[in-house]
Amino acid sequence: MASHHIAVIGGDGIGPEVITEAVAVAEAAALRHDRTELNWNHLPWSSNYYKSHGRILPADGWDILAQHDAILFGAIGSPDVPDKVTVHDLLLPMRRKFDQYVNLRPAYLFAGVPCPLVGKAPGSIDMHVYRENTEGEYAPVGGTLYPGSEHSVAVQTGVFTRRGCERILRAGFEAARSRRKKLTSITKSNAMIYGMGLWDEVYLEVRKDYADVESQSLLVDAAAMDFVRKPESFDVVVASNLFGDILTDLSAAVTGSIGLASSGNINPTKTHPSMFEPVHGSAPDIMGKGIANPMAAILSSALMLDHLGLAASATAVRNAVAKVLESGTARTPDLGGRHTTKDVGAAVLAAV
Ligand code: NAD
Ligand code: IPM
Ligand code: MN
Repeated sequence: MASHHIAVIGGDGIGPEVITEAVAVAEAAALRHDRTELNWNHLPWSSNYYKSHGRILPADGWDILAQHDAILFGAIGSPDVPDKVTVHDLLLPMRRKFDQYVNLRPAYLFAGVPCPLVGKAPGSIDMHVYRENTEGEYAPVGGTLYPGSEHSVAVQTGVFTRRGCERILRAGFEAARSRRKKLTSITKSNAMIYGMGLWDEVYLEVRKDYADVESQSLLVDAAAMDFVRKPESFDVVVASNLFGDILTDLSAAVTGSIGLASSGNINPTKTHPSMFEPVHGSAPDIMGKGIANPMAAILSSALMLDHLGLAASATAVRNAVAKVLESGTARTPDLGGRHTTKDVGAAVLAAV
């Protein structure tokens, strides 16, 4: 039987809670619909691991990860461990080291999910955000001078390269071709004339190769308004690292809950493993209560199955989620229900 070797990092807070459900669902789907075995390598790297080992992953951690076909990730971040460790020693370097330059974040209004916007039909909101994931506003280039003093100086840079802009824009245009052939490039070149200026320049060049795709450039502040005012007008949205981050919490909210928002940190060349994780974080406010919605993690595992070439399994997972949402049989509190993480996981597993 065919098999894949997957690294699993549950991480912190609700991460391990939701990942347990995603592992069970993905494993069952792959066996049943693609006759493929998923072998899971559970890695304990987290804030707790840091507290006992003094580092968030072992010295050979990156080599270990590199040996896998994909990585399934929960969330990291704890109130008692600095972001310098969780975010800057594990999450963000992973996206860069493995050159996962596409951060695909779909947002879809499922039937049965209460939408905070009035009068939106199921399926009417259906967008794929292509977030640049390796540079831009998140490039760790900068520093502080005279920290902690009256004269503190902080320099935070943005790094935009032609290669970086071009490859994410091309990925977005390619994706638009197999969707509704509409693309929006998010900018802020009116204020950030250098970085976003280059972004716009590359957008104008790349779009020439995609005359079949209707594309527009939109300022990020106007885009934020339109994500609320007319989210159905978006198909593929291409954004820089920071703008993509912010807009996808918004696209999650207008499609019902951050508990449904999935993402893939994808290296399209497959020279390094890609990583799949919910958009949400470790949610310290609800950790340990057993009420986190596991659907974002489950839908992220569907993106992983797609990436592994297991299209039938991926479709089965998405259909199972859609069925449970439409029937309303198991719903966590973020969707107005009273069920637990485990109830929802079990319902999706039964439907898969
Ligand atoms: P968060 O996404 O963890 O939580 C925001 C809100 O959404 C909270 O009220 C939370 O209860 C709710 N929520 C999130 N996921 C949910 C789910 N599956 N079901 C139901 N409700 C859910 O964001 P935050 O509170 O700003 O960040 C908490 C920590 O997570 C921070 O340390 C942050 O740096 C980290 N973080 C990590 C990732 C990641 O690992 N990729 C992503 C975002 C935030
Ligand atoms: C996300 C998160 C991260 C990001 C944080 C934890 C650095 O918000 O995955 O959306 O901004 O990329
Ligand atoms: Mn985010």
